[in-house]
Amino acid sequence: MKRSHFLKNTFLSLGATLVLAACGGTEEATTPSSDAAAGPWVVGTEPAFPPFESQNDSGELIGFDIDLMKAIGEQAGIEIEFESLPFDGLIPALQAGTIEAAISGMTITEERAATVDFSRPYFRAGLAIAVAQDDSETTSLETLEGKRIAVQIGTTGAEQAATIKDAKVSTFDSAPLALQELANGNADAVINDAPATLDAISTGNIPGVKVIGELLTEEFYGIAMPKDSSNREILNAALEEMIANGTYDTIYEKWFGTAPVGTLPETAF
Ligand code: ARG
Repeated sequence: MKRSHFLKNTFLSLGATLVLAACGGTEEATTPSSDAAAGPWVVGTEPAFPPFESQNDSGELIGFDIDLMKAIGEQAGIEIEFESLPFDGLIPALQAGTIEAAISGMTITEERAATVDFSRPYFRAGLAIAVAQDDSETTSLETLEGKRIAVQIGTTGAEQAATIKDAKVSTFDSAPLALQELANGNADAVINDAPATLDAISTGNIPGVKVIGELLTEEFYGIAMPKDSSNREILNAALEEMIANGTYDTIYEKWFGTAPVGTLPETAF
């Protein structure tokens, strides 16, 4: 393990421990308001998407989404239990009612919004193309025609790849597996959320890979819930409060090292 990795991992697990300790401490002190559903809410996530959700060396869930969801639970007086699921299994689980919510770097799309409800947007992201560092040919979506593209199954990146003429698209269960395919030279490009790809590059997890050009899309992440869930208002009120009182910014800075740029819109479309 490289020193920087070691330090980062140590720092991250330390951060996670502190957050857990903080949760434990306030749990007894906080009396949930009487109108709040006390939970527990089972919250689904696909935990191979750092820095939003991943597992540390002890198998604990860590990441921006995890901290945000825990803080929402504290704010609303609701106990949160995470459940790891495949990304393309999250919406079916919401529809089946086996989970109360899903937080997984999930883009609010009109198609998804037809089957599940979303919280207000909580993160601004977008798709980016990653290619080999020495690739000077691929400069845009158009130049991907006929190329081998790796994506994570069920994602907006997979949808985007499906629109490219003659592309040979291979789908993987996780974004790191798709990126590995590119690093191994078995794919020419990966279409994935920019913050996740940039994190994989900066941590040294996928050597020899770069992100090209501009973002392909602007996307907003939301917390998904079953259609007409009565929890939507509780969730949105907690999110609004955390955006207003600085908790959101603190969590953002912990995982991205900077303050968020600009403000989030109240709706995705
Ligand atoms: N934002 C993209 C989407 O909603 C990718 C999300 C992938 N998240 C994950 N935890 N693997 O389709």
